[in-house]
Amino acid sequence: MPSSVCTTVPLSNGLRIPVLGLGTSHNGGYCHDVILHALRECGVRHIDTARRYGCEEELGRAMRESGVPRSDLWLTNKLWPGDYGHKAAKKACLDSCSRMGLDYFDLYLMHWPQCHQRGRSNREVRAETWRALEELYHEGVCRAIGVSNFLVHHLEQLKEDCSVVPHVNQVEYHVYQQPRQLVEYCREEGIVFQGYCPLAKGEALGDPAVVKLAQKYGRTPAQICIRWSIQTGVVTIPKSTKKERIEENCQVFGFQLEEGDMAALGTLHDGRHVSWDPTHVE
Ligand SMILES: NC(=O)c1ccc[n+]([C@@H]2O[C@H](COP(=O)([O-])OP(=O)(O)OC[C@H]3O[C@@H](n4cnc5c(N)ncnc54)[C@H](OP(=O)(O)O)[C@@H]3O)[C@@H](O)[C@H]2O)c1
Repeated sequence: MPSSVCTTVPLSNGLRIPVLGLGTSHNGGYCHDVILHALRECGVRHIDTARRYGCEEELGRAMRESGVPRSDLWLTNKLWPGDYGHKAAKKACLDSCSRMGLDYFDLYLMHWPQCHQRGRSNREVRAETWRALEELYHEGVCRAIGVSNFLVHHLEQLKEDCSVVPHVNQVEYHVYQQPRQLVEYCREEGIVFQGYCPLAKGEALGDPAVVKLAQKYGRTPAQICIRWSIQTGVVTIPKSTKKERIEENCQVFGFQLEEGDMAALGTLHDGRHVSWDPTHVE
């Protein structure tokens, strides 16, 4: 059972990823002082970003300014579909490293299963792109590689077409969105399931069942949502641009939700997406 903000879970290649990370995003999802506070004062050691979020340079600078040794930090970055294809993917990854001032990423993900390349199937482009990530992995530029928003059929195709099984699949996951079959499939295949939007972008925080448990445990609704996600065995990456909220979101290790309360939260699933939905991506 996770006991501190530094708690990690193993990937299939033996690396260990911190079970709690801090998200960043576009549209005001980055605040330099707050990232520094998270790293220096809250013990955050895992940050999730993407080329798409437009904060690579500042985030790389924050990592250096924090004084935390690079080897103690876990940085995940993502490849945007506009950069899919073998050559483009390798270049995009190296460009991202260089923008961040880093020699390597701990984890590098294909951001989305749709490829948008005229005359070519998604499957073909995904496989070609994945082979580039496999090379980056073997070259040590990426210590682990994975995918994001991939469903079972996308993962099955990749398994047939390529050789390295993704180390991680990062997918929307919160009390209203519990893709149990996908979670189970990933476990069986040795793919670590990472959940994004654990607060359902704030939508879950006013849910009566969540509020009731917050009162019962003397915690906040955000802590109940994050604790629930971690306690289901999922690597969890809430985002906040507020210092006090990051402190709050990190305090999820000193208590456990009882089995009956976990089950009650398990019934809140209604299938809604608060981010994008890959269901119809072939
Ligand atoms: N792979 C993908 O396709 C994908 C897609 C979406 C997200 N992600 C990743 O997942 C991360 C988290 O997702 P998300 O930001 O969309 O959703 P989220 O973490 O569920 O919710 C973030 C929202 O909740 C607010 N918040 C955070 N902590 C709070 C607290 N303790 N009390 C009240 N409100 C709180 C934040 O506002 P303030 O910032 O104002 O505090 C923000 O509006 C992203 O940053 C990104 O790294 C990945």
